[in-house]
Amino acid sequence: MMNNFELYIENYLNNQRDCLITDAMRYALEGGKRFRPRVIFSILKGMNIDEAIGYDAALALELIQTYSLIHDDLPAMDNDDFRRGKPSLHKAFKEDIAILTGDQLLTNAFRVISESKVYNSDTKVNIINALSKYAGIDGMIYGQLLDVSSNPDSINPDLLFEIQDNKTGGLFKIASLIPMYINNDNNEDYYVKLGSLIGQIFQNQDDLFDLIKSKEEMGKDLSDLDNNKATALTLYSLEELKNIIDEEFKYLDEYLNNSSFNPVYLKELLIKLKER
Ligand code: IPE
Ligand code: IPE
Ligand code: MG
Ligand code: MG
Ligand code: MG
Repeated sequence: MMNNFELYIENYLNNQRDCLITDAMRYALEGGKRFRPRVIFSILKGMNIDEAIGYDAALALELIQTYSLIHDDLPAMDNDDFRRGKPSLHKAFKEDIAILTGDQLLTNAFRVISESKVYNSDTKVNIINALSKYAGIDGMIYGQLLDVSSNPDSINPDLLFEIQDNKTGGLFKIASLIPMYINNDNNEDYYVKLGSLIGQIFQNQDDLFDLIKSKEEMGKDLSDLDNNKATALTLYSLEELKNIIDEEFKYLDEYLNNSSFNPVYLKELLIKLKER
C-alpha cells in the first residue's frame, strides 16, 4: 500500500508533460527512502501541524535529492551503475537523458514551491531561499566539489566535516528549516544545527555501510574504495566510526530536548535511523 506522500508524488508525475523526461523522473524517484521528507513530517507533527501541509516542500526537496543522486552516479562523478535497487538512470535511459532529467528535477523544485496553493508568499520565498542556498554553493554543491577534489592522502577531520556537512548536511538543513518557515518560527540557528547534526550522522553511517553492507542491502553500488574516496573510514577504524556515530546520536537526542517543538516524533524517526 502506498502512503499518502507516495500517492501525492504519483499525482505530481501524472500532471507533468507526457515525454521521456517525465518517464525518467518517475523511474528515478521510485525506490527512495524519503528520509528527508520524513524529517519534515516528524518536525511538523511535533508542531501540531498536519504532515500534508509539508507535502509541496517535501516534494521539492525530494526532487533535488533525486537529481543530486542522478548526477552523483554519472560516469564523470562516482560512476555508479546501480541506484534505488535498479540500474542507475544513465544506465536505464542513457547519459544525455540522465543529465537533462537531473536538470529538470532541480528546476522544477522551485516551480513546485512557487505554484503551491498551501504556503503564503513569505513562506514560499523563505523555502525557495533555503533550497537554493543549501542545495547550492553554500551546501550540497560545495560539498560535492570538496568530495570530488579530495583524496585519502589529503583528508583530515576538519575537511571531512566540511565535506559531510555540505554534501549531505545541506539537504538536511533544508529539511529542518522547512517546518520552521511553515510554522513561522524564527530560531534559524537551532534548525540549521539540527540539520547539520542529522546530516553528519547520516553520512557517517553511509560511509560505514559502504564497507560493511552489500549492494543488495543498500540498493546501490558501493564504490568508495574503488573510487579512492576520502571518507570517514579513511580517518577512522570501523570500531572508532561506530563509536563516533553512537556519540553523535546521543548528542542529537540531548539537542532535541531543547527544541521548541515536541521532539518525540523526530526521535522515533532517529531510532529507526539508528537501527537501520
Ligand atoms: C543517499 O541518500 C545520498 C547520501 C547522502 C548518502 P539516501 O540514502 O537518503 O538515498 P535515497 O534517497 O533513499 O535513495
Ligand atoms: C553523495 O554522497 C551525496 C550527494 C550529495 C549525492 P555519496 O556519493 O556517498 O552518496 P551515495 O553513497 O552514492 O549514495
Ligand atoms: Mg558521491
Ligand atoms: Mg555516490
Ligand atoms: Mg556513499
